[in-house]
Amino acid sequence: MDKLVVEGGKRLTGEIAISGAKNACLPILAATLLTDEECIIHNVPRLKDVSTMVCILESLGRKVEYEKNTIKISAGKVKACTAAYELVSTMRASIAVLGPLIAKYGEAKVSFPGGCVIGARPIDLHLKGLRALGVDIHIEEGYILASAKKMKGAKIYLGGHFGSSVLATANTLMAAVMAEGETIIEDAACEPELIDLANFLLKMGAQISGMGTPTLKIKGVKKLRGIEYTVIVDRIETGTYMLAAIATGGSLFLKGAKLEHNLALNDKLLESGGIVKERSNGIEVCRSGKKIKPIDITTLTYPGFPTDLQAQMMSLVTICEGISVITEKIYTERFIHVSELNRMGANIVLEGSTAIVKGVKKLSGAPVMASDLRASAALVIAGLIASGKTEISRVYHLDRGYEKIEEKLSAVGASIYRVKE
Ligand code: EPZ
Repeated sequence: MDKLVVEGGKRLTGEIAISGAKNACLPILAATLLTDEECIIHNVPRLKDVSTMVCILESLGRKVEYEKNTIKISAGKVKACTAAYELVSTMRASIAVLGPLIAKYGEAKVSFPGGCVIGARPIDLHLKGLRALGVDIHIEEGYILASAKKMKGAKIYLGGHFGSSVLATANTLMAAVMAEGETIIEDAACEPELIDLANFLLKMGAQISGMGTPTLKIKGVKKLRGIEYTVIVDRIETGTYMLAAIATGGSLFLKGAKLEHNLALNDKLLESGGIVKERSNGIEVCRSGKKIKPIDITTLTYPGFPTDLQAQMMSLVTICEGISVITEKIYTERFIHVSELNRMGANIVLEGSTAIVKGVKKLSGAPVMASDLRASAALVIAGLIASGKTEISRVYHLDRGYEKIEEKLSAVGASIYRVKE
Protein backbone atom coordinates (compact mmCIF):
# COMPACT_ATOMS: atom_id res chain seq x y z
CA MET A 1 0.00 0.00 0.00
CA ASP A 2 1.27 3.47 -0.84
CA LYS A 3 1.72 6.38 1.46
CA LEU A 4 2.37 10.02 0.67
CA VAL A 5 5.20 11.97 2.27
CA VAL A 6 4.77 15.73 2.50
CA GLU A 7 7.51 18.12 3.65
CA GLY A 8 5.71 21.28 4.65
CA GLY A 9 6.47 24.97 4.69
CA LYS A 10 6.70 25.58 0.95
CA ARG A 11 4.55 28.20 -0.80
CA LEU A 12 2.65 26.90 -3.82
CA THR A 13 3.17 29.08 -6.89
CA GLY A 14 2.36 28.42 -10.53
CA GLU A 15 -0.35 26.79 -12.63
CA ILE A 16 -2.47 23.67 -12.09
CA ALA A 17 -4.83 22.32 -14.78
CA ILE A 18 -8.11 21.18 -13.25
CA SER A 19 -9.41 17.74 -14.27
CA GLY A 20 -12.90 16.66 -15.30
CA ALA A 21 -15.49 16.31 -12.52
CA LYS A 22 -15.63 12.84 -10.92
CA ASN A 23 -19.16 13.44 -9.61
CA ALA A 24 -20.45 14.45 -13.05
CA CYS A 25 -18.60 11.69 -14.85
CA LEU A 26 -19.93 8.76 -12.79
CA PRO A 27 -23.69 9.35 -13.40
CA ILE A 28 -22.95 10.32 -17.05
CA LEU A 29 -21.17 6.99 -17.59
CA ALA A 30 -24.20 5.23 -16.06
CA ALA A 31 -26.51 7.21 -18.39
CA THR A 32 -24.82 5.67 -21.44
CA LEU A 33 -26.78 2.50 -20.56
CA LEU A 34 -29.89 4.34 -21.86
CA THR A 35 -28.82 3.81 -25.50
CA ASP A 36 -27.29 1.02 -27.57
CA GLU A 37 -25.54 3.57 -29.77
CA GLU A 38 -21.92 4.57 -29.24
CA CYS A 39 -21.14 7.34 -26.72
CA ILE A 40 -17.81 9.19 -26.58
CA ILE A 41 -17.03 11.13 -23.39
CA HIS A 42 -14.12 13.56 -23.09
CA ASN A 43 -12.40 15.19 -20.09
CA VAL A 44 -12.82 12.00 -18.04
CA PRO A 45 -10.43 12.07 -15.05
CA ARG A 46 -8.22 8.99 -14.62
CA LEU A 47 -9.44 7.93 -11.21
CA LYS A 48 -10.06 4.68 -9.31
CA ASP A 49 -13.80 5.43 -9.11
CA VAL A 50 -14.03 5.91 -12.88
CA SER A 51 -12.29 2.56 -13.42
CA THR A 52 -14.81 0.95 -11.06
CA MET A 53 -17.73 2.38 -13.08
CA VAL A 54 -16.06 1.12 -16.28
CA CYS A 55 -15.84 -2.38 -14.73
CA ILE A 56 -19.53 -2.21 -13.84
CA LEU A 57 -20.47 -1.19 -17.42
CA GLU A 58 -18.34 -4.04 -18.82
CA SER A 59 -20.02 -6.46 -16.37
CA LEU A 60 -23.34 -5.23 -17.82
CA GLY A 61 -22.17 -6.20 -21.31
CA ARG A 62 -20.82 -2.87 -22.58
CA LYS A 63 -17.69 -2.52 -24.69
CA VAL A 64 -15.51 0.22 -23.19
CA GLU A 65 -12.35 1.83 -24.60
CA TYR A 66 -10.60 4.13 -22.10
CA GLU A 67 -7.71 6.10 -23.54
CA LYS A 68 -6.09 9.09 -21.82
CA ASN A 69 -9.11 11.18 -20.75
CA THR A 70 -11.59 9.85 -23.30
CA ILE A 71 -13.97 6.92 -22.94
CA LYS A 72 -15.81 5.26 -25.83
CA ILE A 73 -18.78 3.05 -24.85
CA SER A 74 -20.89 0.86 -27.11
CA ALA A 75 -23.37 -1.94 -26.72
CA GLY A 76 -21.64 -5.31 -26.45
CA LYS A 77 -23.09 -8.68 -27.49
CA VAL A 78 -24.66 -9.62 -24.13
CA LYS A 79 -27.31 -7.74 -22.22
CA ALA A 80 -27.04 -8.06 -18.46
CA CYS A 81 -28.95 -6.23 -15.72
CA THR A 82 -27.06 -7.29 -12.60
CA ALA A 83 -24.56 -4.96 -10.89
CA ALA A 84 -22.68 -7.27 -8.55
CA TYR A 85 -21.89 -6.80 -4.84
CA GLU A 86 -18.13 -7.14 -5.46
CA LEU A 87 -18.11 -3.92 -7.51
CA VAL A 88 -21.01 -1.94 -6.03
CA SER A 89 -19.77 -2.41 -2.45
CA THR A 90 -16.52 -0.61 -3.35
CA MET A 91 -18.23 2.53 -4.63
CA ARG A 92 -21.61 3.96 -3.55
CA ALA A 93 -22.04 5.90 -6.79
CA SER A 94 -22.55 2.55 -8.55
CA ILE A 95 -26.19 2.89 -7.47
CA ALA A 96 -26.55 5.31 -10.43
CA VAL A 97 -26.93 2.36 -12.84
CA LEU A 98 -30.29 1.46 -11.23
CA GLY A 99 -32.46 4.09 -12.98
CA PRO A 100 -30.92 3.65 -16.48
CA LEU A 101 -31.17 -0.20 -16.35
CA ILE A 102 -34.87 -0.08 -15.44
CA ALA A 103 -35.55 2.56 -18.12
CA LYS A 104 -33.71 0.61 -20.83
CA TYR A 105 -34.48 -3.00 -19.91
CA GLY A 106 -37.50 -2.79 -17.56
CA GLU A 107 -35.52 -4.65 -14.91
CA ALA A 108 -32.43 -4.33 -12.73
CA LYS A 109 -30.65 -6.27 -10.00
CA VAL A 110 -28.23 -3.99 -8.17
CA SER A 111 -26.37 -4.77 -4.99
CA PHE A 112 -27.40 -2.67 -2.01
CA PRO A 113 -24.55 -0.15 -1.59
CA GLY A 114 -22.27 -0.75 1.41
CA GLY A 115 -21.74 1.45 4.43
CA CYS A 116 -19.63 4.61 4.36
CA VAL A 117 -17.31 6.14 6.96
CA ILE A 118 -18.65 9.65 6.39
CA GLY A 119 -22.08 8.72 7.75
CA ALA A 120 -25.29 6.83 7.22
CA ARG A 121 -26.07 7.03 3.52
CA PRO A 122 -29.53 5.51 3.03
CA ILE A 123 -31.05 5.14 -0.48
CA ASP A 124 -34.71 5.59 0.53
CA LEU A 125 -35.07 8.62 -1.77
CA HIS A 126 -33.72 6.68 -4.77
CA LEU A 127 -36.32 3.96 -4.18
CA LYS A 128 -39.05 6.55 -3.52
CA GLY A 129 -38.41 8.27 -6.86
CA LEU A 130 -38.42 5.02 -8.85
CA ARG A 131 -41.48 3.60 -7.08
CA ALA A 132 -43.37 6.82 -7.90
CA LEU A 133 -42.73 6.05 -11.59
CA GLY A 134 -44.38 2.66 -11.13
CA VAL A 135 -41.29 0.55 -10.59
CA ASP A 136 -41.77 -2.55 -8.44
CA ILE A 137 -38.87 -2.81 -5.98
CA HIS A 138 -37.95 -5.28 -3.30
CA ILE A 139 -34.75 -6.15 -1.47
CA GLU A 140 -33.56 -9.78 -1.54
CA GLU A 141 -30.24 -11.26 -0.38
CA GLY A 142 -28.62 -7.84 -0.30
CA TYR A 143 -29.80 -6.93 -3.77
CA ILE A 144 -32.32 -4.38 -5.00
CA LEU A 145 -34.62 -6.24 -7.41
CA ALA A 146 -36.50 -3.78 -9.60
CA SER A 147 -38.87 -4.29 -12.51
CA ALA A 148 -41.32 -2.22 -14.50
CA LYS A 149 -43.34 -3.28 -17.56
CA LYS A 150 -44.16 0.38 -18.24
CA MET A 151 -43.06 3.41 -16.25
CA LYS A 152 -45.48 6.30 -16.01
CA GLY A 153 -44.59 9.94 -15.34
CA ALA A 154 -45.50 11.32 -11.90
CA LYS A 155 -45.16 14.31 -9.56
CA ILE A 156 -42.47 13.41 -7.01
CA TYR A 157 -41.31 15.30 -3.91
CA LEU A 158 -37.71 14.09 -3.43
CA GLY A 159 -36.59 16.20 -0.44
CA GLY A 160 -34.97 14.27 2.46
CA HIS A 161 -33.89 14.99 6.07
CA PHE A 162 -30.84 16.87 4.81
CA GLY A 163 -32.51 18.46 1.77
CA SER A 164 -32.13 17.30 -1.81
CA SER A 165 -30.09 14.24 -2.83
CA VAL A 166 -27.74 14.43 -5.83
CA LEU A 167 -27.76 10.77 -6.89
CA ALA A 168 -31.41 10.14 -5.97
CA THR A 169 -32.31 13.03 -8.30
CA ALA A 170 -29.97 11.56 -10.94
CA ASN A 171 -31.50 8.06 -10.70
CA THR A 172 -35.08 9.34 -10.85
CA LEU A 173 -34.23 11.67 -13.74
CA MET A 174 -32.52 8.88 -15.73
CA ALA A 175 -35.62 6.69 -15.32
CA ALA A 176 -38.14 9.46 -16.00
CA VAL A 177 -36.57 10.41 -19.38
CA MET A 178 -38.03 7.16 -20.79
CA ALA A 179 -41.25 7.00 -18.74
CA GLU A 180 -44.59 7.64 -20.41
CA GLY A 181 -45.82 11.23 -20.01
CA GLU A 182 -44.58 14.02 -17.76
CA THR A 183 -42.64 13.78 -14.52
CA ILE A 184 -42.08 16.67 -12.11
CA ILE A 185 -39.35 16.26 -9.49
CA GLU A 186 -39.71 18.73 -6.60
CA ASP A 187 -36.74 19.55 -4.31
CA ALA A 188 -34.42 18.22 -7.00
CA ALA A 189 -30.66 18.65 -6.52
CA CYS A 190 -29.20 21.77 -8.20
CA GLU A 191 -25.53 20.75 -8.17
CA PRO A 192 -23.50 21.57 -11.33
CA GLU A 193 -22.85 17.83 -11.70
CA LEU A 194 -26.60 17.17 -11.90
CA ILE A 195 -26.97 19.92 -14.50
CA ASP A 196 -24.13 18.34 -16.49
CA LEU A 197 -25.96 14.99 -16.43
CA ALA A 198 -29.18 16.69 -17.58
CA ASN A 199 -27.30 18.40 -20.44
CA PHE A 200 -25.85 15.02 -21.44
CA LEU A 201 -29.39 13.52 -21.50
CA LEU A 202 -30.76 16.50 -23.43
CA LYS A 203 -28.10 15.96 -26.09
CA MET A 204 -29.15 12.28 -26.25
CA GLY A 205 -32.66 13.50 -27.14
CA ALA A 206 -34.33 13.69 -23.72
CA GLN A 207 -36.84 16.44 -22.88
CA ILE A 208 -35.94 18.15 -19.61
CA SER A 209 -36.40 21.67 -18.21
CA GLY A 210 -35.71 23.41 -14.91
CA MET A 211 -32.08 22.23 -14.48
CA GLY A 212 -30.36 24.10 -11.68
CA THR A 213 -33.72 24.81 -9.99
CA PRO A 214 -35.47 22.64 -7.36
CA THR A 215 -38.21 21.78 -9.92
CA LEU A 216 -37.22 19.47 -12.78
CA LYS A 217 -39.75 18.79 -15.54
CA ILE A 218 -39.25 15.75 -17.80
CA LYS A 219 -41.30 14.53 -20.76
CA GLY A 220 -40.63 10.87 -21.49
CA VAL A 221 -39.32 9.79 -24.91
CA LYS A 222 -39.18 6.34 -26.55
CA LYS A 223 -35.51 6.31 -27.60
CA LEU A 224 -32.24 8.06 -26.82
CA ARG A 225 -29.26 8.35 -29.18
CA GLY A 226 -25.50 7.99 -28.74
CA ILE A 227 -23.53 11.26 -28.47
CA GLU A 228 -20.11 12.84 -27.97
CA TYR A 229 -19.79 14.95 -24.81
CA THR A 230 -17.25 16.80 -22.68
CA VAL A 231 -17.62 16.64 -18.89
CA ILE A 232 -17.41 19.86 -16.78
CA VAL A 233 -14.34 20.60 -14.67
CA ASP A 234 -14.16 19.42 -11.05
CA ARG A 235 -15.26 22.16 -8.61
CA ILE A 236 -14.19 20.13 -5.56
CA GLU A 237 -10.66 19.60 -6.95
CA THR A 238 -10.67 23.34 -7.75
CA GLY A 239 -11.73 24.21 -4.19
CA THR A 240 -9.08 21.91 -2.72
CA TYR A 241 -6.28 23.72 -4.61
CA MET A 242 -7.76 27.16 -3.82
CA LEU A 243 -7.54 26.26 -0.12
CA ALA A 244 -3.99 24.86 -0.54
CA ALA A 245 -2.84 28.10 -2.20
CA ILE A 246 -4.15 30.28 0.64
CA ALA A 247 -3.03 27.85 3.36
CA THR A 248 0.59 27.92 2.11
CA GLY A 249 0.60 31.68 1.48
CA GLY A 250 1.23 30.97 -2.20
CA SER A 251 -0.34 32.02 -5.50
CA LEU A 252 -1.93 29.60 -7.98
CA PHE A 253 -3.61 29.86 -11.38
CA LEU A 254 -6.18 27.05 -11.70
CA LYS A 255 -6.54 26.44 -15.41
CA GLY A 256 -10.06 25.64 -16.65
CA ALA A 257 -11.62 26.24 -13.20
CA LYS A 258 -15.03 27.95 -13.02
CA LEU A 259 -15.57 30.42 -10.18
CA GLU A 260 -19.37 30.31 -10.70
CA HIS A 261 -19.33 26.72 -9.38
CA ASN A 262 -17.60 27.74 -6.15
CA LEU A 263 -19.28 30.94 -5.01
CA ALA A 264 -19.90 29.79 -1.44
CA LEU A 265 -16.23 28.87 -1.04
CA ASN A 266 -15.14 32.10 -2.73
CA ASP A 267 -17.21 34.09 -0.25
CA LYS A 268 -15.55 32.40 2.74
CA LEU A 269 -12.04 32.70 1.27
CA LEU A 270 -12.46 36.44 0.85
CA GLU A 271 -13.65 36.59 4.48
CA SER A 272 -10.56 34.64 5.62
CA GLY A 273 -8.19 37.01 3.83
CA GLY A 274 -7.84 35.36 0.43
CA ILE A 275 -7.80 37.07 -2.97
CA VAL A 276 -9.64 35.32 -5.79
CA LYS A 277 -9.69 36.61 -9.37
CA GLU A 278 -11.73 35.13 -12.22
CA ARG A 279 -9.90 34.85 -15.54
CA SER A 280 -11.34 33.86 -18.90
CA ASN A 281 -9.81 30.40 -18.67
CA GLY A 282 -9.50 29.90 -14.96
CA ILE A 283 -9.11 31.28 -11.44
CA GLU A 284 -6.19 33.08 -9.78
CA VAL A 285 -5.96 32.68 -6.03
CA CYS A 286 -3.56 33.89 -3.35
CA ARG A 287 -3.52 35.21 0.24
CA SER A 288 -3.77 38.99 0.86
CA GLY A 289 -1.75 39.25 4.09
CA LYS A 290 0.28 37.26 6.56
CA LYS A 291 -2.65 36.22 8.70
CA ILE A 292 -5.70 34.03 7.99
CA LYS A 293 -8.89 35.31 9.59
CA PRO A 294 -11.32 32.94 11.36
CA ILE A 295 -14.58 32.04 9.61
CA ASP A 296 -17.77 30.15 10.37
CA ILE A 297 -19.21 27.73 7.84
CA THR A 298 -22.24 25.47 7.65
CA THR A 299 -22.32 22.84 4.94
CA LEU A 300 -25.49 22.83 2.81
CA THR A 301 -26.74 21.51 -0.49
CA TYR A 302 -25.70 23.52 -3.57
CA PRO A 303 -25.27 26.50 -3.88
CA GLY A 304 -24.45 26.41 -0.16
CA PHE A 305 -20.98 25.51 1.16
CA PRO A 306 -20.14 21.97 -0.08
CA THR A 307 -19.67 19.19 2.46
CA ASP A 308 -16.91 17.84 0.15
CA LEU A 309 -14.75 20.90 1.04
CA GLN A 310 -15.50 20.93 4.79
CA ALA A 311 -12.40 18.92 5.81
CA GLN A 312 -10.05 20.88 3.54
CA MET A 313 -11.43 24.19 4.89
CA MET A 314 -10.85 22.88 8.43
CA SER A 315 -7.16 22.35 7.63
CA LEU A 316 -6.91 26.01 6.55
CA VAL A 317 -8.47 27.43 9.71
CA THR A 318 -6.31 25.31 12.04
CA ILE A 319 -3.70 28.10 11.67
CA CYS A 320 -6.01 31.14 11.55
CA GLU A 321 -5.95 33.94 14.14
CA GLY A 322 -8.93 33.15 16.37
CA ILE A 323 -11.81 30.67 16.61
CA SER A 324 -13.68 29.21 13.62
CA VAL A 325 -16.92 27.23 13.86
CA ILE A 326 -17.65 24.51 11.28
CA THR A 327 -21.12 22.90 11.25
CA GLU A 328 -21.76 19.81 9.13
CA LYS A 329 -25.40 19.61 8.04
CA ILE A 330 -25.18 16.98 5.28
CA TYR A 331 -23.18 14.14 6.89
CA THR A 332 -23.39 14.92 10.57
CA GLU A 333 -20.55 12.55 11.51
CA ARG A 334 -18.13 13.64 8.78
CA PHE A 335 -15.32 14.50 11.21
CA ILE A 336 -12.88 11.55 11.12
CA HIS A 337 -10.14 13.97 10.00
CA VAL A 338 -10.37 15.89 13.30
CA SER A 339 -8.31 13.46 15.39
CA GLU A 340 -5.61 13.31 12.70
CA LEU A 341 -5.41 17.14 12.53
CA ASN A 342 -5.18 17.28 16.32
CA ARG A 343 -2.33 14.74 16.08
CA MET A 344 -0.54 17.42 14.01
CA GLY A 345 -1.01 19.99 16.77
CA ALA A 346 -4.36 21.51 15.78
CA ASN A 347 -6.83 22.50 18.51
CA ILE A 348 -10.26 21.21 17.45
CA VAL A 349 -13.14 20.29 19.74
CA LEU A 350 -16.27 18.51 18.51
CA GLU A 351 -19.74 19.36 19.82
CA GLY A 352 -22.24 17.09 18.06
CA SER A 353 -22.09 18.04 14.35
CA THR A 354 -20.09 21.21 15.03
CA ALA A 355 -16.30 21.56 15.22
CA ILE A 356 -14.79 24.47 17.15
CA VAL A 357 -11.35 25.21 15.71
CA LYS A 358 -9.05 27.38 17.83
CA GLY A 359 -6.28 28.63 15.56
CA VAL A 360 -2.71 27.63 16.52
CA LYS A 361 0.62 29.25 15.52
CA LYS A 362 1.75 26.20 13.55
CA LEU A 363 1.17 22.53 12.79
CA SER A 364 3.92 19.93 13.03
CA GLY A 365 4.39 17.02 10.64
CA ALA A 366 3.33 13.54 11.90
CA PRO A 367 2.30 10.08 10.66
CA VAL A 368 -1.45 10.28 9.93
CA MET A 369 -4.05 8.00 8.38
CA ALA A 370 -6.51 8.84 5.60
CA SER A 371 -10.07 7.62 6.25
CA ASP A 372 -11.97 8.83 3.20
CA LEU A 373 -11.46 10.82 0.01
CA ARG A 374 -11.88 14.39 1.25
CA ALA A 375 -10.33 13.75 4.68
CA SER A 376 -7.18 12.60 2.86
CA ALA A 377 -7.13 15.86 0.84
CA ALA A 378 -7.39 17.76 4.13
CA LEU A 379 -4.36 15.87 5.47
CA VAL A 380 -2.38 16.79 2.36
CA ILE A 381 -3.17 20.49 2.95
CA ALA A 382 -2.24 20.14 6.64
CA GLY A 383 1.03 18.48 5.61
CA LEU A 384 1.79 21.38 3.24
CA ILE A 385 1.23 23.84 6.11
CA ALA A 386 3.08 21.88 8.82
CA SER A 387 6.75 22.12 9.74
CA GLY A 388 8.65 18.92 9.12
CA LYS A 389 7.47 15.71 7.48
CA THR A 390 3.92 14.30 7.36
CA GLU A 391 3.37 10.69 6.26
CA ILE A 392 -0.18 9.96 5.07
CA SER A 393 -1.04 6.28 4.89
CA ARG A 394 -3.99 4.64 3.05
CA VAL A 395 -3.76 7.14 0.19
CA TYR A 396 -5.85 4.81 -1.97
CA HIS A 397 -8.69 6.98 -0.69
CA LEU A 398 -7.11 9.99 -2.42
CA ASP A 399 -6.70 8.14 -5.73
CA ARG A 400 -10.44 7.70 -5.88
CA GLY A 401 -10.98 11.39 -6.52
CA TYR A 402 -7.77 13.31 -7.28
CA GLU A 403 -5.97 12.82 -10.61
CA LYS A 404 -2.13 12.97 -10.29
CA ILE A 405 -2.26 15.04 -7.07
CA GLU A 406 1.41 14.71 -6.19
CA GLU A 407 2.53 15.56 -9.78
CA LYS A 408 0.27 18.60 -9.82
CA LEU A 409 1.43 19.83 -6.40
CA SER A 410 5.14 19.13 -7.06
CA ALA A 411 4.90 21.18 -10.26
CA VAL A 412 3.96 24.26 -8.17
CA GLY A 413 6.67 23.85 -5.56
CA ALA A 414 5.37 21.32 -3.03
CA SER A 415 7.64 18.62 -1.66
CA ILE A 416 5.32 15.62 -1.88
CA TYR A 417 6.08 12.10 -3.04
CA ARG A 418 4.65 8.60 -2.89
CA VAL A 419 6.42 5.65 -1.25
CA LYS A 420 5.48 2.00 -0.90
CA GLU A 421 4.60 1.17 2.74
C1 EPZ B 1 -23.02 13.05 -3.86
O1 EPZ B 1 -23.32 11.86 -3.12
C2 EPZ B 1 -21.50 13.06 -4.03
N1 EPZ B 1 -21.09 11.84 -4.68
C3 EPZ B 1 -20.82 13.13 -2.66
O2 EPZ B 1 -19.43 13.30 -2.88
C4 EPZ B 1 -21.31 14.36 -1.92
O3 EPZ B 1 -20.79 14.36 -0.61
C5 EPZ B 1 -22.85 14.34 -1.84
O4 EPZ B 1 -23.43 14.23 -3.15
C6 EPZ B 1 -23.41 15.60 -1.21
O5 EPZ B 1 -23.01 16.73 -1.90
C7 EPZ B 1 -21.28 11.72 -6.02
O6 EPZ B 1 -21.83 12.55 -6.69
C8 EPZ B 1 -20.77 10.47 -6.65
P1 EPZ B 1 -26.70 12.80 -1.40
P2 EPZ B 1 -24.83 11.37 -2.94
O7 EPZ B 1 -27.64 11.73 -1.77
O8 EPZ B 1 -25.66 11.75 -4.10
C9 EPZ B 1 -29.08 11.81 2.52
C10 EPZ B 1 -17.12 12.84 -2.74
O9 EPZ B 1 -16.35 13.12 -1.82
N2 EPZ B 1 -29.83 10.84 1.70
O10 EPZ B 1 -26.86 14.14 -2.02
O11 EPZ B 1 -24.79 9.96 -2.52
C11 EPZ B 1 -27.62 11.40 2.69
O12 EPZ B 1 -27.45 10.47 3.73
C12 EPZ B 1 -18.53 12.27 -2.43
O13 EPZ B 1 -16.86 13.00 -3.95
C13 EPZ B 1 -30.94 10.23 2.25
O14 EPZ B 1 -31.30 10.48 3.40
O15 EPZ B 1 -25.24 12.25 -1.67
C14 EPZ B 1 -26.95 12.73 2.98
O16 EPZ B 1 -27.08 13.04 4.33
C15 EPZ B 1 -18.68 11.89 -1.00
N3 EPZ B 1 -31.61 9.33 1.48
C16 EPZ B 1 -27.78 13.69 2.13
O17 EPZ B 1 -29.02 13.04 1.82
C17 EPZ B 1 -31.25 9.04 0.18
O18 EPZ B 1 -31.90 8.20 -0.48
C18 EPZ B 1 -27.12 14.09 0.81
O19 EPZ B 1 -26.66 12.93 0.18
C19 EPZ B 1 -30.13 9.67 -0.35
C20 EPZ B 1 -29.43 10.59 0.43
